[in-house]
Amino acid sequence: MVKKIRTSVFISGNGTNLLSIIKNSRDYNFPITVKLIISNNKNAYGLKYAKRYGINYKYFSSKDQEKFERNTLIEIKKNKIELVCLAGFMKILSKNFLINFKKKIINIHPSLLPKFKGLNTYKRVLDNEEIYSGCAVHHVNSKLDAGNVVLKKKVLIDKNETQESLKKRILSQEHKLYSEAIRLIFK
Ligand code: GRF
Repeated sequence: MVKKIRTSVFISGNGTNLLSIIKNSRDYNFPITVKLIISNNKNAYGLKYAKRYGINYKYFSSKDQEKFERNTLIEIKKNKIELVCLAGFMKILSKNFLINFKKKIINIHPSLLPKFKGLNTYKRVLDNEEIYSGCAVHHVNSKLDAGNVVLKKKVLIDKNETQESLKKRILSQEHKLYSEAIRLIFK
């Protein structure tokens, strides 16, 4: 049996990236296994997947960030987590927290980084009349969406593209890209 990397996925919302990682991780050859899901939103839809797949999960409010990070770190240690995947996690983690992970914390972002860091990417991409947008998986550091990119995927913008249509098309690429990036990191 291949020894899988014990992974925690952090979410705040729908958790569709979480779901695709969970599904892929059930493949014998996929390098990671999801052992812990952390949410800073108790109503995150993605928590349903934790329940459905019987994965240990915890909700901690991040209003008090220090407390959130302290509690999360305790769970990370308890569950012997070796990799953290941020997937729609809407909070910037502190340097003090990140120091615990070195290169073992990654994120997915819906733009071709380093272009369009931050929020509202679809609107900014369309306002800027870009020809392409896409998504990127990157290492996380204490600056927003600024760590080294692991892998990107381009999406050609349609003539009649709307924010909604672009979001949908990019999201479906994210679902493949996140797992591809994980495979690449642990190749
Ligand atoms: C994705 O577009 C991701 O790139 C961004 O937040 C969204 C999360 O979607 N960081 P989901 O919760 O995985 O469905």
